Parts: sequence; C-alpha cells; structure tokens
Amino acid sequence: MPEFKPLARQKAIVTGASSGIGESVAIALGRAGADVVVNYVEGEAAANAVVDQLHQAGSKAIAHKADVSAENQVEEMFERAMREFGTIDILVANAGLQRDCAFAEMTLEGWNKVLAVNLTGQFLCARAATREFLRRGVVSSVSRAAGKIICMSSVHQEIPWAGHANYASSKGGIKLLMESMAQELAPKRIRVNAIAPGAIRTPINTSAWDTPEALKSLLTLIPYGRIGLPEDIARAAVWLASDESDYVVGTTLFVDGGMTLFPGFSTNG
Ligand code: BGC
Repeated sequence: MPEFKPLARQKAIVTGASSGIGESVAIALGRAGADVVVNYVEGEAAANAVVDQLHQAGSKAIAHKADVSAENQVEEMFERAMREFGTIDILVANAGLQRDCAFAEMTLEGWNKVLAVNLTGQFLCARAATREFLRRGVVSSVSRAAGKIICMSSVHQEIPWAGHANYASSKGGIKLLMESMAQELAPKRIRVNAIAPGAIRTPINTSAWDTPEALKSLLTLIPYGRIGLPEDIARAAVWLASDESDYVVGTTLFVDGGMTLFPGFSTNG
C-alpha cells in the first residue's frame, strides 16, 4: 500500500533548520511529502546534510542562508522559494536563540538580539508567507487552507524564567503575535498556530541534560519522566501543517511532557 503523505504537493519553509527542533521538523515535513527550504544562518554543512536527508526522502529540498531578523534577507529567501518551488504553503517559524543573563546584567544588545531573532524574525517570515497565501488563495487539490503558519514558541510563553527575561519576553510576544495573526487571517483561510515545546534534547539547552545531575534535576520538572526529543515536536508540526488539523486555528499545542502542569504541586505543594 502506498504510504500516506499528508503534505504531498506542498511547499514549506522551515527557519533555523540546520539543527535541533528545526532540523527534525524539516525532515519530517519532507517525509510527509513536502518540498522544503532549509533555512540556516550559520552551519552551512549541517544545513546541506539536512537537505541530503530530504533528497533521500524524495523532497526537492534546498538550503538557504538568511538571518530571519533582517528584512531584506527574509524577502530574498521567499523570492528564492517562489523561484524554485512556485509558491509556499507552510511556514514553520522556528529560528530562535537564548542569551541567558541575570536581569541586572542584561545588556540592551543581548535584549535586542533575542527579541530581533525570536519575535521580529517570526513577524517578518509570517508577513512574507501571508502575502503569498493571500495572493494565491486556496488550491483545493493541495490543501483546504490557503496556508499554514506554525510559530515555534516555548513553555516559557507561560512559565516565567529567571535569568532569561529576554527569552521569556520573546516567547510571550509570540503567543499574542500568533493569536492576533490567527484571528485576523482565519477569514482568509490562513491557519496560524503555535507549538510550545518543553525541554527538548537539542543544542540550545545542552547544559540542562548533558550530565546525570543536570538531567536528574531537569526531570523533577517533567511529570512524564523523560526529556523530549526533536521528533516529538516534528510529529506535532506535521499534524498542524496538514489538513488533519484543518479546524485548529489560533491554538498553542504544548508538547512538554507536562512541564506546564505545576509539577511542584504534585506532592501537596
Ligand atoms: C528553552 C530550553 C528549556 C526549555 C524548558 C525552551 O524554550 O529553549 O532551554 O530547556 O524551554 O525550560
């Protein structure tokens, strides 16, 4: 029996796709049938390795270097995607970084960098994707929606995070950016949603899991008792990008092993 490809004929851009969650999402979208732009800002070899895996899966993938916080680079990336693929159906706005710092020591530069990449980057990419979705509209043989935007948020859109005020602010911003876009664009049949990962084993948080002591301490925050894997997020992204979730609009899907369930209260507070 031929394998079901829920994203057949669809074209996707995944930002920050040379490592971590973005890499896994890009590969999963490709395996689900999409052609994929693998965006990266550094790590060309790693991005090309992702593209190779996608080619093996039958996806017409390309790597594209762009800083998502630079308007001209985002515009060029979408122009390239249009040239290579003809259109775009799916954006996974995933690129993000941390510049952790005690609040009193936080520099304006460190603040601006995190907000620029994590929040402004999602705005710029989502705006470019939206313009294409509005131009093209629904093509019913491809998808029931005119386009899908998936914003990569974090449990820290809800959970305050000492020492990470810039990062938590960017993720809180993503929550209302996503919801406002979803409300505005749903009548145009553009579906905007977010995924809020908890602790996922990726390079962004190595120090939280790379020693037995760190992992033990991390697991006290995760009721389900294991650290997440990039594939846990990738499966959610494929679903949110597909017509299987066609009635899901403006939702944040927490994929966190229960991290947002106030585990400190599981023993009576
Ligand atoms: C952060 C990780 C952290 C996780 C749970 C993510 O958004 O990027 O560093 O481990 O949230 O706290």
